Amino acid sequence: MKKILILFAHPALEKSRVHKTLLKHIGGLDHVTFIDLYEHYPDFDIDVKREQQLLLSHDIIIWQHPLYWYSAPALLKQWQDLVLEHGWAYGKNGKALSGKKVFNVITSGGGMKAYQPEGYQHCTMPEILKPFERTATLCSMDYWPPFWIPGTHKLDAAEINEFGEKYRQLLIELGIDNLNEADVEQANCINDLIEISKSNLR
Ligand SMILES: Cc1cc2nc3c(=O)[nH]c(=O)nc-3n(C[C@H](O)[C@H](O)[C@H](O)COP(=O)(O)O)c2cc1C
Repeated sequence: MKKILILFAHPALEKSRVHKTLLKHIGGLDHVTFIDLYEHYPDFDIDVKREQQLLLSHDIIIWQHPLYWYSAPALLKQWQDLVLEHGWAYGKNGKALSGKKVFNVITSGGGMKAYQPEGYQHCTMPEILKPFERTATLCSMDYWPPFWIPGTHKLDAAEINEFGEKYRQLLIELGIDNLNEADVEQANCINDLIEISKSNLR
């Protein structure tokens, strides 16, 4: 089984509709380690060595968070700034993360139509995620397209649940290495590759 590490950053989980629902769907998977960064580090005092050990012991890393001001909540940035050390994650001898996969599980208030060059937001989601892509690439990791839930304000509970099912299915398929890497690399969103009708794998 591939081992998956979810690094979750949501500073207001008590107000969350979408991530709260996603979390309800992903419990009980032995190959998945879930870390709630705001719960572990409410004062932003990140245990760098512990986080690096966690990275080393997993194959696939997920940055799960809402889109806040076209970026991630601050603690995930702090995690990147402190954990991805020069000489360890990048730089001449920094190859600790080489070959690992990483992608964002991201939610946005803006819908898919808004995130177009001609749309309300004047940019695309891959453009917004560019800093994550570059960070991953500099750390010799393979950056994959996001699992993206757009237009969160307009989603009803049933629709959010469906994303939760898809997310669980994605984690299962990643665990058994069931996704074709070429398909993943070409997808706009990794969601597009998951059929929830296959949820008999559950
Ligand atoms: C501080 C803040 C900043 C936000 N910035 C953005 C943004 O830049 N773009 C966007 O599409 N939505 C933005 N939103 C909307 C959130 O992305 C959306 O409410 C969230 O993803 C929904 O997930 P949740 O129910 O788990 O909180 C923002 C929300 C907050 C509270």
